[in-house]
Amino acid sequence: MRVIIVKNYEEMSKEAGKLVKELIIKKSNCILGLATGSTPIGLYKELIRMHKEEGLDFSKVITFNLDEYYGLSGDHPQSYRYFMDTNLFNEINIKKENTHVPDGKIPIDEIEEYCKKYEEMIKNLGGIDLQILGIGGDGHIGFNEPGSSIYSRTRLVALDEQTIKDNSRFFEKIEDVPKFALTMGVGTILEAREIILLANGSKKAEVVAKAIEGPITSQITASALQLHPKVTVILDEEASSHLRRKEYYKFAYEAEKKINFRIF
Ligand code: F6R
Repeated sequence: MRVIIVKNYEEMSKEAGKLVKELIIKKSNCILGLATGSTPIGLYKELIRMHKEEGLDFSKVITFNLDEYYGLSGDHPQSYRYFMDTNLFNEINIKKENTHVPDGKIPIDEIEEYCKKYEEMIKNLGGIDLQILGIGGDGHIGFNEPGSSIYSRTRLVALDEQTIKDNSRFFEKIEDVPKFALTMGVGTILEAREIILLANGSKKAEVVAKAIEGPITSQITASALQLHPKVTVILDEEASSHLRRKEYYKFAYEAEKKINFRIF
């Protein structure tokens, strides 16, 4: 695992932006796995800037989002489809038909088939090249709440009480937060060729330390990332404050810069 610790949110977003840009330049028809929430907004702003100022071309890029609230349609302002359209897709030259966000309105009896198809679509297009992740207060990636199997696939899940509380900041009242979601599984996420996990702020410090340096456990689904050979974790100072091996990560990152070679 590569752990990069930067000063603040802006630098975290820029650092992630550089990696995404590098990939798009190398592989113009790459497949990106995308997350929503507060964490990647700065990265998306950076990608929009790169598109507008540096001509970064998204015309062949394909995206798959991790998750969607179950019960919300794509035009609901709190839906993740709406989030992606307004925070990224509408501002770059991506083709809307190349962007995929799970459909939160799929009838209950079609969910299983729909989730299977979502996974098949990813596979048939060649698999996710780079997956962007945030981490929930309870250690979730996607909406894989504590207890989700490391082998879990795209499916319907019930949201944890803490997630509902955490996400209520986007809704008028806590009762409005959907109780279910469709999410890629931990197993789905681990199939991406490369992964970037982003976290910022002191609120995430404890769970970040558990995920990176604690045991691999379904109780902190982000800890499963320890099993993946190509993960870059980008943290601001606050989110890194509980890491035991912080000095080593800083040393290793400085060292790899000198030889211009990524060390995972
Ligand atoms: C969102 C997602 C979630 C968030 C996590 C952190 O698509 O999959 O795992 O990344 O809940 O959310 P924020 O960034 O709002 O703290």
